[in-house]
Amino acid sequence: MAEPRVIATASDDFVAAAADLIAERIQRAAGPRCRLVLAGGGTPRPVYEALAKRSDLDWSRVDFLWGDERAVGPDDAKSNYRMAKEALLDPIGAVDGQVFRIEGERAAAEAAAAYASTVQGLQLDLVLLGMGGDGHTASMFPGDPPSRDEASDVVVTTSPVPPTTRISMSLRALNAAAHVVFLVTGAGKAARLAEVWRQRDTADPVLPAAMINPSPGELVWMLDHAAAAQLPIANPANETKQ
Ligand code: 6PG
Repeated sequence: MAEPRVIATASDDFVAAAADLIAERIQRAAGPRCRLVLAGGGTPRPVYEALAKRSDLDWSRVDFLWGDERAVGPDDAKSNYRMAKEALLDPIGAVDGQVFRIEGERAAAEAAAAYASTVQGLQLDLVLLGMGGDGHTASMFPGDPPSRDEASDVVVTTSPVPPTTRISMSLRALNAAAHVVFLVTGAGKAARLAEVWRQRDTADPVLPAAMINPSPGELVWMLDHAAAAQLPIANPANETKQ
């Protein structure tokens, strides 16, 4: 398994460093469109807000997709789409034609099938992911069989915490991306992150975050020092510019 790149910063520098990295990867995307897959949860929100304030990005060439969605409507407070709309899409004036949300309000199997059609054949340029305290990523959860499905691009999964029904891009779709960037911060994630590191080198990892290994794509773990504290690596790159 190729060694991922680790960039760890002081907590106060994380948002700016993550925004710099993402902006650079968007600018580097070669094709006429940059397909950006957004993560949900809490960590990305300030990074999206920082990205929205930048003046060096041509957002009109970016198509926005989601790595996962809860089985809720777009106006629900738990919607990953709603979070990104508030933090990034509305501030930059994204138009409907560049926004491809997972329709969480539909029956989950229908929403998953529809999203699989949306992403079929797309080269995903940049995928953003978070990592939950249990080692989940996107909406793939430890011990949840559909979370290991590699026969489709979008799966219906079950979360141990509500909303329990989720729709998620699969390992197959995520590992086909050109660039995958994890955004993980906080001491509370350090032990689990160390376990992910250990599992990455095993033949049969259990934690979904340990199963993300884009090939030939690039994998970057964008961390703060608190989250990186237990990793078996000396002095992870402390770059704030890419
Ligand atoms: C979601 C996300 C999920 C998230 C992790 C980390 O739907 O919640 O896709 O995978 O990235 O749970 O969340 P935090 O960034 O809030 O710790």
